[in-house]
Amino acid sequence: MAKLKVGLIYGGRSVEHEVSLLSAASIHTNLDPSRYEVWPIAIGRDGVWRAGRPGDALDTTLERGAEVVLPATPGAALGLGDTAIPLDVLFPIVHGHGGEDGALQGLVELAGLPYVGSGVLGSSLQMDKDVSRRVLEQAGLPVCPWLRVDKTEVADDPRAVVARVVERLGLPLFVKPANSGSSVGIHKVTEAKALGRALADACRYDTKLVVERGLDAREIEVAVLGNDHPEASLPGEILPARDWYDYEAKYVDEGTELSVPAELESAQVERLRELAVRAFRVLEGAGLGRVDFFLTRDTGEIFINEVNSLPGFTEVSMYPQMWEATGLPYPQLLDRLIELALERHREHAALETTYRSG
Ligand SMILES: Nc1ncnc2c1ncn2[C@@H]1O[C@H](COP(=O)(O)OP(=O)(O)O)[C@@H](O)[C@H]1O
Ligand SMILES: [Mg+2]
Repeated sequence: MAKLKVGLIYGGRSVEHEVSLLSAASIHTNLDPSRYEVWPIAIGRDGVWRAGRPGDALDTTLERGAEVVLPATPGAALGLGDTAIPLDVLFPIVHGHGGEDGALQGLVELAGLPYVGSGVLGSSLQMDKDVSRRVLEQAGLPVCPWLRVDKTEVADDPRAVVARVVERLGLPLFVKPANSGSSVGIHKVTEAKALGRALADACRYDTKLVVERGLDAREIEVAVLGNDHPEASLPGEILPARDWYDYEAKYVDEGTELSVPAELESAQVERLRELAVRAFRVLEGAGLGRVDFFLTRDTGEIFINEVNSLPGFTEVSMYPQMWEATGLPYPQLLDRLIELALERHREHAALETTYRSG
């Protein structure tokens, strides 16, 4: 059987560029060479797309690959100079802005190619901490008490914002840019007098913010896999050595530990897995998603923090580790994700797109 041509898209312009390179390297090594021919497609920090040929190293492609002409017509695939790269499926593993927020998904959707992961709406919905909270709440799913704050309100009357937020949510608080990742622009605020500065700083990253009650909670994650009938893995736990899981704890500090599977009672495990699947579905997830929870230390209450549509994907990242612990090894997880991408594409391709009478 002919090998499936997989376009592995990695890099990107966000702060998670390096993480994406690591994720892509793991995927590259673990895609079964008897089944797949991998075409590397790198997005540089400058936003330029460069493509290599099967067998090319990922970092060489990033530095010296041929510039890719982005697709504008359906079926045009991805143009490489005058020739189109003949791809069967795309595997985008670009985290954060431009990669995980629906923009990249829209682009490949126009090219008419199957791709791994959530579509345009699911990706942008999961990225937006304000709209995703509203949708989760509306579905009756538990989210931590929160308020949306706009940059214009902060600019016009910061004192009024501080007073309103502290009155409604108390202290400590977390201030977050609505569209962020890797904890960039996020502040933990323990006294009211520090709130103004935290709000102003978070406004540097987005025009809307989410302010949330600070919890004393364990951080539990569940991996979800599937399209119409998604399944949930066993939960894992993040144990940051620092006060909270900030940028340093994620990428700099060696002290952060992952515990997979997490030590939990079986009733909690069942509840978390059920909530993970429901959150994934209401936020229009497809293919994969990592659902992050808070489990409060005093009362054992569960809140959904966020769903990540393209979570870290190195062999030691939470998402693949949780599947490994659930009985699905990394290479088979990749097979399954590619199958799901093809399945979803077939399903969409079969839909009517024009009006037919009768
Ligand atoms: N309401 C909260 N209570 C306690 N800790 C929080 C809260 N919100 C966020 N945090 C801490 O901040 C980290 C990053 O917040 P998160 O909303 O997950 O942003 P990101 O999308 O950047 O990962 C979390 O992993 C957690 O450690
Ligand atoms: Mg997070």
